Amino acid sequence: MFKSYVVLLSITMLMLVSCGKEASLMKVERAPFGKLPDGRQVEQFTLVNSQGAKAMVITYGAIVNRLYMPDRNGNFADIVLGFDKIDNYLKEPPYFGAIVGRYGNRIGKGQFTLDGKTYQLATNNGPNHLHGGVAGFDKVLWSAETVKSDSAVGVKLFYLSRDGEEGYPGNLKLEVTYWLTNLNQLRIDYLATTDQATIVNPTHHGYFNLAGHGEGDILGHELMIAADYFTPVDETLIPSGELRPVQGTPFDFTTPTAIGARIGEADQQLQYGQGYDHNWVLTKETGKLGLAASVYEASSGRYMEVYTTEPGMQFYCGNFLDGTFTGKEGKRYNHRYGLCLEAQHYPESPNKPDFPSVVLRPGETYTQTTMYQFSVR
Ligand code: GLA
Repeated sequence: MFKSYVVLLSITMLMLVSCGKEASLMKVERAPFGKLPDGRQVEQFTLVNSQGAKAMVITYGAIVNRLYMPDRNGNFADIVLGFDKIDNYLKEPPYFGAIVGRYGNRIGKGQFTLDGKTYQLATNNGPNHLHGGVAGFDKVLWSAETVKSDSAVGVKLFYLSRDGEEGYPGNLKLEVTYWLTNLNQLRIDYLATTDQATIVNPTHHGYFNLAGHGEGDILGHELMIAADYFTPVDETLIPSGELRPVQGTPFDFTTPTAIGARIGEADQQLQYGQGYDHNWVLTKETGKLGLAASVYEASSGRYMEVYTTEPGMQFYCGNFLDGTFTGKEGKRYNHRYGLCLEAQHYPESPNKPDFPSVVLRPGETYTQTTMYQFSVR
């Protein structure tokens, strides 16, 4: 009897010690990350969880510029595309790792009508508006503070998008919190309020390569998207309003399929997107956090699942990357070296009354949670 007490006691003590050890790995460090041309300081927050996974976030653009996750042998690699220096983020435009908005993705001709008034936004992508305009949320300096819980460390970022900024109505107060949990989840919580009716659709624009950034293209990654329909587009990538079944098309990712398996098929939608650059209509219930997509990379064993409260998912496979970007550690980002899974409301929603609404009014609160969860197989 006494013996088993002693054994039990020692096991409990061991568990406590190892828990304490784990918890002691958890930390957030705050350091300067260069200056903007007007002299304002950009900061970098380094989040470390109990497993030694790491996320680094800069206050310019609310950009996740590094994300270290283990492979099946426990070796960590940085699995997101990004730049070493602030200067590159200022010069170059592919939205690496940023929060984009006020409206993520496209609005046809940059126009929408709300409560009888027509608004004209910047047309910064051919004839259309893209990712909030000329200086969207990815090109502004956010303020930030550290947050912590028992099971996660994080950084909460704040931005006030003023009435009229980039042509949008209403002062929009936005909070975005990146949590790195001890279960190797990068969880993003969004919250926004406004003082006038407006439209809002922010998203995270991380480019993932589960083999490690700069380590080849993502065509061998196996993708699943939990969606039976997608929103087909015109040649300028504006949805027509139709919800088209994915069944029997290269857009069917209901079972895991290599991204490259059908990308070269003679399909008009693939031609318009120069590959995949479309919105999928998620099967899961809107407003509830549910599984939207997963990606598996066989050589590393890394597996990513994407959970979201949003109704749609833009899957973009880096079609516009052409090797002109030299990323972190001098690595070149060639064609399709990264993939984006952008949880969102559908593109062109302000002009499509049948799509879920993106209107936010005074007194209402916009919320979104999207979580990228990492494990190995
Ligand atoms: C989104 C768009 C793409 C492209 C990228 C950024 O994914 O749908 O067409 O603009 O952002 O390059």
